[in-house]
Amino acid sequence: MLPAKAHAVITQKTGPANEVLSFEEVPGPVLKPNSVVIKVAAASVNPVDFKFRAGNIAGMSPPKIAGGDVAGTIVASSVPTFAVGDRVFGRTKSWGAHQEYLVHDPSDGGLVKMAPSLPFEEAGGAAIVALTAYYGLVNYGGLLPDKEFEAGKGPRVLIVGASGGVGHVAVQLAKRCLGASFVVGVCSSKNAAFARQMGCDEVVEYDKEEFKQLDKLADLKPEWKGSFDVIYDTVGSDVFYHPLAPLLLRPGAPYTTAAVPVDGAGAKPVSLWSAVGMIGKVGYRTVLGARPYRMVIPDNKEWTRIAGWINEGKVKIHVQEKIPLQEAARAHDLVAGGRVVGKVVLVV
Ligand SMILES: NC(=O)c1ccc[n+]([C@@H]2O[C@H](COP(=O)([O-])OP(=O)(O)OC[C@H]3O[C@@H](n4cnc5c(N)ncnc54)[C@H](OP(=O)(O)O)[C@@H]3O)[C@@H](O)[C@H]2O)c1
Repeated sequence: MLPAKAHAVITQKTGPANEVLSFEEVPGPVLKPNSVVIKVAAASVNPVDFKFRAGNIAGMSPPKIAGGDVAGTIVASSVPTFAVGDRVFGRTKSWGAHQEYLVHDPSDGGLVKMAPSLPFEEAGGAAIVALTAYYGLVNYGGLLPDKEFEAGKGPRVLIVGASGGVGHVAVQLAKRCLGASFVVGVCSSKNAAFARQMGCDEVVEYDKEEFKQLDKLADLKPEWKGSFDVIYDTVGSDVFYHPLAPLLLRPGAPYTTAAVPVDGAGAKPVSLWSAVGMIGKVGYRTVLGARPYRMVIPDNKEWTRIAGWINEGKVKIHVQEKIPLQEAARAHDLVAGGRVVGKVVLVV
């Protein structure tokens, strides 16, 4: 039987996490047609959650329950594809995962059953970053998931932000699922070993003296010049785009990005001036950039394929910290700090 009452983290208005997020009692879930009710076990905090809370997501206004990733157990179902007791994970485009029970319509393909060996916290941090990583490399980046390559002949990939949520999955997808023969990660030196563990062949530690001038990278690594098939940027800073895009990509190869190039796109509201600057940069790069420039917008269509790799253990979600749902504000602040290695996941 479904409970009459449950709890949710509600973003009441825009502002600092500890002032505007409240953990509240809400009416219990009600099963609708073509839906499932998921007893949420884990749901990650993504940058979009704190950007929304900060008032930086156009067209979305509070009050709202954030959370686009979910993992949990089906406790009621009106669809033939999922039964009570199924452990599931995926993405809810309509948000709402930061609560104890989620009523979800799975018809867009964003929900898949979990392998028995997959822990909830890893599953609950998977969908948004994995879909974003995949779309950046494949749909926008041109890598071919079904192609077999001779040893050493696979694509060459460079990933900016290789230690973050999207980046650490992008490295694994490139190396373990998409045939890349050479993967370079860009991250801070404290995370270089982690990036290598994820599958990077080489790491550009951007805070190390030898790499500080990234426009000299091609002098340091002449064999890299014009050799990459895709650069996937999950940070979005000018610091990376200008030196890396024209120097390292082969002609025609794309610079894909998950992150908009906007100053201050953290936990504070973006100024009008920064927003205008961002539109200018995207326009300039798209029309006049030395290489194709593509903003990544992922869909759920590939979730079954990607979830299969996660279920097999081919792609692992690294969880830096599990935080109880009641302490969502702490999780928001951690993610907004921009230095998370892998994921921060709320657990119920
Ligand atoms: N397009 C979409 O639909 C979509 C979907 C998901 C995410 N996104 C966006 O993609 C971006 C990345 O998401 P995420 O979940 O991967 O974020 P994340 O986990 O918070 O990324 C953190 C990583 O970024 C690196 N970093 C932070 N600031 C940096 C700086 N100034 N210079 C260099 N590296 C820096 C850090 O690595 P080091 O400490 O090692 O430098 C950290 O490991 C966010 O802006 C997010 O909003 C977009």
